[in-house]
Amino acid sequence: MTQPQTSKTPVDRKVVDNLIEKFGITNFGKATIREIKAIAAQAEQDTGIEFIKMEMGVPGLSASSMGVKAEIEALQSGVASVYADIDGIPALKEETSRFVKAFVDVDIPAEGCVPVTGSMQGTYAAFLTASQCDPNKDTILFIDPGFPVQKQQLVVMGQKYESFDIYEFRGEKLQEKLESYLKKGNISALIYSNPNNPSWISLKDEELKIIGELCQLYDVILLEDLAYFAMDFRRDLSKPFEAPFQLTAAKYCDNYVLLISASKAFSYAGQRIGVACISDKLYHRKYKGITQRYGMGTYGSTFVHRVLYALSAGVSHSAQYALAAMFKAANDGKYNFLSEVREYGNRAQKLKEIFLRHGFKLVYDNDMGEPIADGFYFTITYPGMSGGDLSRELMYYGVSAISLETTGSSQQGLRICTSFIYPHQYEQLDERLKVFGLNQEKK
Ligand SMILES: Cc1ncc(COP(=O)(O)O)c(C=O)c1O
Repeated sequence: MTQPQTSKTPVDRKVVDNLIEKFGITNFGKATIREIKAIAAQAEQDTGIEFIKMEMGVPGLSASSMGVKAEIEALQSGVASVYADIDGIPALKEETSRFVKAFVDVDIPAEGCVPVTGSMQGTYAAFLTASQCDPNKDTILFIDPGFPVQKQQLVVMGQKYESFDIYEFRGEKLQEKLESYLKKGNISALIYSNPNNPSWISLKDEELKIIGELCQLYDVILLEDLAYFAMDFRRDLSKPFEAPFQLTAAKYCDNYVLLISASKAFSYAGQRIGVACISDKLYHRKYKGITQRYGMGTYGSTFVHRVLYALSAGVSHSAQYALAAMFKAANDGKYNFLSEVREYGNRAQKLKEIFLRHGFKLVYDNDMGEPIADGFYFTITYPGMSGGDLSRELMYYGVSAISLETTGSSQQGLRICTSFIYPHQYEQLDERLKVFGLNQEKK
């Protein structure tokens, strides 16, 4: 019996195949965001067929107008000609300290709240400083899946890292798994994002307690990446100085850095600003490795006056005014910064419904039994297909997304980013996935 013919794909397979060859990609599962973006853009140009772009984690909303206004005013007042203080302008330091109290319920004095040129720079500086504290602790631990560029930062600086996928280790299973790494004594700092890029899982308080307490026990610095600050929309985290707060492992340990980015929560990615909030104990802690290298200093002073100074000598003056104004308004209860970005949650809800209806499954689908929040990302898989095969196959349907392989996940699937979806694309996606489903059945 002959197999039924599969229907034509929306995008000519040959066009995509030729481009993949041209880019020299032999394993599509390992293709980077930039490569997939470039192939999608070229295929779009060659065929005139619009791609539904889900690979880039770039904010798709307008920048907070409050930040823009404050920044323009700062520029007009003349700050552009003046170096900003490397520690950060006082207004931003004060408002950051208030912000972490208001929305995370932790106390970090203004001194420890330091602006960075995006939390990307914050992690680079935090990794570097952590790696200089103790010569026996020469490795950073990633609780994956994660943001691939952070591993690249360690490759750039020649530092070692280890990682594990949390998929099988949620809840109390995390204790033994995490301890198996920390007890070896070589881990200087550990990092994870929460909510998580790419899976959008949000760790529960009991998991954060395990992480914090183990960091305390094994004297490991906690680096908590809050790039998607308070964007777990299942709970209303938008009220300053009122529970519920953004959950954090900082409640359970002394030595931590909270990395808060303005990029996503305030749609302010272009101005490259975030804050590294260093706990008071860590800021003032002396380490043998630091004393040997610099002759003096603490973790905090090294982070700011040695590392940040060497990297960029501070952060754009006007952007600091923008973030100070946004934090102040949020702290004063005059600006609900989460109301704008809630749009990502609405998009995720619609997109998930379409993918699930066409036979896809969510990969990371729950937080200890509770369905994950709808937000900036989610992860999908299709029965019987590897992540690499699925991401390549979907390119023929004009849908671009990265494979989870690139994120340190050991699961098969794709990361879907909701930020670049336009209203007319839900119907488009529905139609294309219908053809995809029919073609899979015929195979
Ligand atoms: C988990 C995570 N951390 C950090 C960043 C970088 O943020 P920033 O723009 O503040 O450098 C991102 C951006 O996508 C991210 O997803």
